Amino acid sequence: MSSVDSQRRVLSGMRPTGRLHLGHYHGVLKNWVKLQHEYECFFFAADWHALTTHYEDPQSIEQNVWDMLIDWLAAGVSGTSSTMFIQSQVPEHAELHLLMSMVTPVSWLERVPTYKDQQEKLKDRDLATYGFLGYPLLQSADILIYRAGQVPVGADQVAHVEITREVARRFNHLYGKEPGFEDKAEAAIKKMGKKAAKLYSSLRKAYQEQGDADALETARALLKEQQNITLGDQERLFGYLEGGGKVILPEPQALLTPDSKMPGLDGQKMSKSYGNTITLRDTTDEVSEKVRRMPTDPARVRRTDPGNPDKCPVYQLHQVYTDKPIHDWVQEGCRSAGIGCIDCKKPIIDAISAELAPMQQRAAEYEANPDAVRVILNEGTERAREAARDTLIEVRQAMGLQYRQ
Ligand code: TRP
Ligand code: SF4
Repeated sequence: MSSVDSQRRVLSGMRPTGRLHLGHYHGVLKNWVKLQHEYECFFFAADWHALTTHYEDPQSIEQNVWDMLIDWLAAGVSGTSSTMFIQSQVPEHAELHLLMSMVTPVSWLERVPTYKDQQEKLKDRDLATYGFLGYPLLQSADILIYRAGQVPVGADQVAHVEITREVARRFNHLYGKEPGFEDKAEAAIKKMGKKAAKLYSSLRKAYQEQGDADALETARALLKEQQNITLGDQERLFGYLEGGGKVILPEPQALLTPDSKMPGLDGQKMSKSYGNTITLRDTTDEVSEKVRRMPTDPARVRRTDPGNPDKCPVYQLHQVYTDKPIHDWVQEGCRSAGIGCIDCKKPIIDAISAELAPMQQRAAEYEANPDAVRVILNEGTERAREAARDTLIEVRQAMGLQYRQ
């Protein structure tokens, strides 16, 4: 891998589905906010991905993208700590998608589980399209165009990261080979100087002969420190560690986001398709109204009937929003009919409102100042395109498309 440190690069995207809810906040956005301080992060609105399934209603895309980006910012994703952009503003993704399509067997795409699952689930749409089949490959291009090593995703997206690894491996295998690769790699080793050369060779041997993963990591770290070899040589030596040829597109890893435990208003997982969400923009009155309407333990028909919190979706929200003393108060009060359900819901309404207040404040500021959002996106797009162009230069060259003027 060349001038970028792919292990430190994170990329993730989200389809613009409109207003985000507490499930997105607790499951995804809080994690992004943390990652942006630890990695070089690229976060984008996957508008092309939205079109693969919703090509018949493009009118809502722009508004959905905008609402979603403002929710990201409101949740604390930062345009300076991370690079935020809209997928279709970086057409380099599409070129890499096209080039990778040349070497991707159709059968790999057909066997990605989401292909059939989504066709089943979205029965009212015709998803027998070329674009929908290519969905995972487009996602691979999103990742590989930045040579991102880490991809935070939920369990449902792991198969897409897996196919990305396979496509990258195949690509490197086909195009990472150059005439005289081994000789060039051996010559590059010598250029590192005696001590580093010896260390590199023994680490490589430990990895190749004993599969020692630590040795591979140490060798990679050693290569990163080398000042006196060219980027081309460094790239060769990264590839030589694992056998093959040059690593043009490094294989990413899924950074599995722990499954969101955010319960919805009905006790199922919070999800737009279940209609059980609290959105990040719900006002205190709306939050209050939604929580008040939540079903409770059906055994508590009257205020005087005792109940069981373990059978109540409200208690699941207590797990997220309140602490032990309140849990004890609920357990005791519910089972003895000492408290009513309205009393029980009050601390939740307060906690959610307090959590949302600063986000809504920020969202209102961005809504009132769309130019600030545009500046963030323009800067993000510029940084993203620059990184993407670097990769494409190498990819074009590897595929025989580097024409002299
Ligand atoms: N397919 C992802 C989803 O539905 C969104 C996405 C598109 C993505 N490209 C990506 C996620 C690249 C991670 C990396 O959630
Ligand atoms: Fe649910 Fe609380 Fe009512 Fe018990 S008191 S049934 S836990 S809302």
